[in-house]
Parts: sequence; C-alpha cells; structure tokens
Amino acid sequence: MSAPKKLFIKTYGCQMNVYDSERMAESLGAQGYEATETADDADMILLNTCHIREKAAEKVYSELGRFKGLKEAKPDLKIGVAGCVAQAEGAEIMRRQPMVDLVVGPQSYHRLPELEAKARSGEKALDTDFPEEDKFEHLARRPKAARGPTAFLTVQEGCDKFCAFCVVPYTRGAEVSRPADRIMGEARDLVERGVREITLLGQNVNAYHGHERGLSGLIRDLAKVDGLERIRFTTSHPNDMDDDLIAAHGDCEKLMPYLHLPVQSGSDKILKAMNRKHTAESYIKLIERIRGVRPDLLLSGDFIVGFPGETEEDFADTMALVETVGYGQAYSFKYSTRPGTPAAERAQVKEDAKLERLHRLQALLKDQQVAAQEAMIGRDVSVLFERDGREAGQMTGKSEYLHAVHVEAPDVARGDLRRVRILASTSNSLKGALL
Ligand code: SAH
Ligand code: SF4
Ligand code: F3S
Repeated sequence: MSAPKKLFIKTYGCQMNVYDSERMAESLGAQGYEATETADDADMILLNTCHIREKAAEKVYSELGRFKGLKEAKPDLKIGVAGCVAQAEGAEIMRRQPMVDLVVGPQSYHRLPELEAKARSGEKALDTDFPEEDKFEHLARRPKAARGPTAFLTVQEGCDKFCAFCVVPYTRGAEVSRPADRIMGEARDLVERGVREITLLGQNVNAYHGHERGLSGLIRDLAKVDGLERIRFTTSHPNDMDDDLIAAHGDCEKLMPYLHLPVQSGSDKILKAMNRKHTAESYIKLIERIRGVRPDLLLSGDFIVGFPGETEEDFADTMALVETVGYGQAYSFKYSTRPGTPAAERAQVKEDAKLERLHRLQALLKDQQVAAQEAMIGRDVSVLFERDGREAGQMTGKSEYLHAVHVEAPDVARGDLRRVRILASTSNSLKGALL
C-alpha cells in the first residue's frame, strides 16, 4: 500500500466551520489522507473559509498567495477552498487564483471524495450546489478513535432570517434541522469516545425543529445520556427563545448557565433597519425572564456598530442596552458591507465614526468582562479539564460559565470534572485551586 497522503486543513469563521472541518477530514481520511499540522508537508491543503466580513474573505486570498511557493515546489499538491467564501464566490476563486484545484460549498462537502479524485486527475473540481440529499447521511461514518472531552455537534444549518447585513442566508441556504434520532446517535457515539460536553451548533440553533419539542426537547433527551455531563448551544436568535427553552435553563442541570444571545444594536430604529424583528425592550425583557429561572446565567452577545443610518443617539442606545443587560463577555464588530445584502446599498457611516464607536463599545464590554471575572473570585465552580496548562503541573479547563480556569493539579487528567475554588482573575482567564 502507498504511504498515506497528508491533509492540512485551516479553519476560519464560526464553530460550524470547526465541525465541518472535522467531518471533511474524516471524509478524506476514508480516502487515505491523514491530518498534518503544517502546510509544508501536505499533499492537499484545504481552507475552510468565512465570508461574514470583508476582512475574513480577503484573508483567504492572501493565504492562498502564500502557498504559491509550495505549489511550485510540489506540483502534485492540491489546493482546495471550502466553506462560505467557496459558496459565495464559486468559480471566481479559480479565476482569481488559478492554483486552486477544488472549490466546495458547505452543503456539498459530502461529495469531497469525488471532487478530490477529479482534482487528482488534473481537472478543476467545483461543487457549490444546495443538493436535495442530506449531506450528513452521505458522509463517511465517524471513526471510533478516542477524542477529547468537548465536542461540537451541528444540529441545524442555514438561516431564513435575512438580517439586512448578513451573508449567512446566502452562503448556508435555508434553515434545515437534522432529525433528532441521528443527533442522539452521534451524541452517544461521541460520549463512548470520551466526550463529556457537547455544544449543539446551528446558525440559528434555537430554531431547531428536528424534535417535536424543538431544541429544548432535544436538550432534555440528551440530558438523559449517561456520561454526557454538560450541554451547551450556540448561536441563538432572540425571537426563537421559546418558553420551554427558557424553562430548561432553570430545570435542566446539564444545560450550562451560559448563553450567547446576539442583539446587534440597542436602537429600535437600527434594529428595524437591520430586519431583526425584535426591539431593545423585548430583548431586555427576554433576558430578565431567563435570569428569572437562572440568576447566575453568564450572558454573551454580538454587536455591530456603524450600521447604515446609525447616529450618535442610536449608538448611545446600544451603550445603554449594554449597561442595562451586563454581559460576561461579548463580540463587537464594525459594520462591513457585504455585496448582495440589502444594507450594502444604503448610505454608509464614515469609517472614523465606526472605529471610534467600536473602541467605546469594546472598552465598556471589557469592563463588564473584567467585572464578571472578578465576581467569580471566592466562588466554587466545576471545571471540565481539557488540556495541560502553560506551566508544568498546571491543567486548564472551562467552568460552567465558559471561563478558562487554570489550576495547579498534577493528579488531574484530561476529561476530569472537578470542583474548584476561584482565587484570582487574570486578563482572559481565572486561576483556582482544587477543592
Ligand atoms: N446566526 C447568528 C450569528 C451569525 S454571524 C445570529 O443570528 O446572531 C456572527 C456575527 O457576525 C453576527 O451576530 C453579527 O454580529 C456579525 N456580523 C454578521 N454580518 C456582519 C457584517 N456584515 N458586518 C459586521 N458584522 C457582521
Ligand atoms: Fe445572519 Fe441574522 Fe441569520 Fe444570524 S439571524 S445568521 S445574523 S441573517
Ligand atoms: Fe462565517 Fe459562514 Fe460561519 S460566513 S461565521 S463561516 S456560517
């Protein structure tokens, strides 16, 4: 038998891409590829890309440029582009960067084996269909090898919300939910392989409808799986938080007290222009309800500043919403014009105003993050240990609130779940001692 070929995958963007990269590696694994950590010795390089902001897409082309020397030195090297840039740009990628051999969209990567064979034979291989068949049913079976204590599991893909700034409905297509029995099977399999925490993924995960009781029904079924200790989900839309999902935050012990619930803006005028279909007040009321059943919930969010039409007053409304809600951590971005989306056609906010607002918002969010971390000092949390810490004898894991926690713990193994007292807060993590 010939030596295994080497596959290097680089992943950009959201967690769904992380999950897709795993599945693509497994699919090519069945074709005789094994993973490598560097592009230098690869026989195939696959960039799993993100199109969400202009910079994310540009990064792909500059990264491709860097592979030029490798391709010249090794003409057999195949270069592929997957993910949302592949979906959005299709054959244009090969025109702009002729050394690309293969382009595959996020809904068609179950066809990678045929595409790889085509690329190997010297042809250009392109597939950005939204096929009828369910790709998960056509993907290679997941291998049985042991794996780390945490895993992502995609349960829902695509989005029908059409926020005026966002490319996702175009790159990922319409909302589709995977059947609950398939997800249960995959989850049990992950647990048998050592996984103790699963994060359910979807572009709009709480719109999940593959279970008769929606996402909360799926979470409640998963909570019955022995050996699975923790359940998380991301990303949610405020309009899809139904009553039972809210209730689950209070009564489902395995559901962790951390919620990523993007609001984007605190101005009703801007929310309307964004086509979000909720107001600042309805969002705040929703948070109050969830905190009503789970007072210690750590809240995360996403914000866009400088959306077309955003004035200083609108931005002040966003700052006020952040003050009212109080986030444990959050992501904030300057609005980025995405061709083909409705907001791209509108009058744009000046770059310097965007940047200045972003700095003000990030300073406030950072203060809240620091405060949330400092509030943990003296408290006891549970930590799922994932890896060795930076210093000898140290282990690092995540608390229920998704804080990274470092502990001096020579006797702790990867995958252990232990009680820890938090002693100190550093810039992006906590330090603690085993109880
Ligand atoms: N489905 C999720 C998030 C999808 S994209 C949701 O609905 O919340 C992740 C984040 O990127 C978004 O929440 C938004 O804050 C940001 N984003 C999306 N499009 C953007 C754009 N054109 N410019 C700047 N930020 C954007
Ligand atoms: Fe994009 Fe809005 Fe859909 Fe989220 S809900 S993926 S921001 S269109
Ligand atoms: Fe990016 Fe696509 Fe995810 S655009 S954020 S990789 S869904």
